[in-house]
Amino acid sequence: MSLTPIGEPRQKITSATLREKKLRHEPITCLTAYDYATGRLVDEAGIDIILVGDSLAQTMLGHENTLSVTIDDMLHHTRAVRRAVKHAFLVADMPYGSYHVNSEEALRNAARFVKEAGAEAVKIEGGEKRADIIRRIIEAEIPVTGHIGLTPQSVNVMGGYKVQGKSLAAIEQLVRDAVALDRAGAACIYLEGIPREVGAMITAEVETPTIGIGAGPECDGQVLVFHDIMNLTFGPPAKFVRRYADAAAVITDAVQAFRADVVSHQYPSDAESYHLPKETQAALETVLERKRAMRR
Ligand code: KIV
Repeated sequence: MSLTPIGEPRQKITSATLREKKLRHEPITCLTAYDYATGRLVDEAGIDIILVGDSLAQTMLGHENTLSVTIDDMLHHTRAVRRAVKHAFLVADMPYGSYHVNSEEALRNAARFVKEAGAEAVKIEGGEKRADIIRRIIEAEIPVTGHIGLTPQSVNVMGGYKVQGKSLAAIEQLVRDAVALDRAGAACIYLEGIPREVGAMITAEVETPTIGIGAGPECDGQVLVFHDIMNLTFGPPAKFVRRYADAAAVITDAVQAFRADVVSHQYPSDAESYHLPKETQAALETVLERKRAMRR
């Protein structure tokens, strides 16, 4: 495995790079990002794929699930991340309803992510049943990433966020889904919330790189939600989430310290204040003295 040494020029990641990494058994890294600051930090840290996920519905906008997020919401956040990202492969999630009517509308909406927001690929949830739409979008020169298993846009059909692929019939369907995406030419396939054994089986079955989230270590890559790894999600994490920092604690401490400094007149200090040039200050003193004298 080759990690680019810090300070060395990094290569631009494309869908071809992802396939090369799979062939070389080099793990692919992916994180979500939803704004300029996190997009920059994630890109500069060397992550391969940055996903502007529709999970921003919950993490950024406070919705209960991803269903209400709009194309305009997604375009707005994708544009912000686009301004930040130089090396990672930038993928934007197509929100619920934007690819469900027919393939013309799906293609028109996918093209908006490329033309209006600078995405390099879009992500669509669903396997076999989306293969034709995905093929149509790829024919229009837009790379598409698939997403199967626990697909959050299907929450009402699944009856909650439940691990998928637990029966033989469900496993067979998942394999058919993955093969359909593989044949359609997906740039990668996100595998979410499925048993490790099924993640491993699908990864061995398809040439397309698989990116797991709760799908075990045998996937070709791993993705997590930025806010989950930073403890910014305000709830108990899913089993697969590993917390790498407690940003909630860092932010709370900083905000409380600022508040305490303002309330106790510790902020701002003289050094944190602007000052008049000496001559202007002297002239101002004279004016103020004259005003005081007139009032006496
Ligand atoms: O929206 C999202 O963040 C996702 C990933 C978790 C795969 O779809």
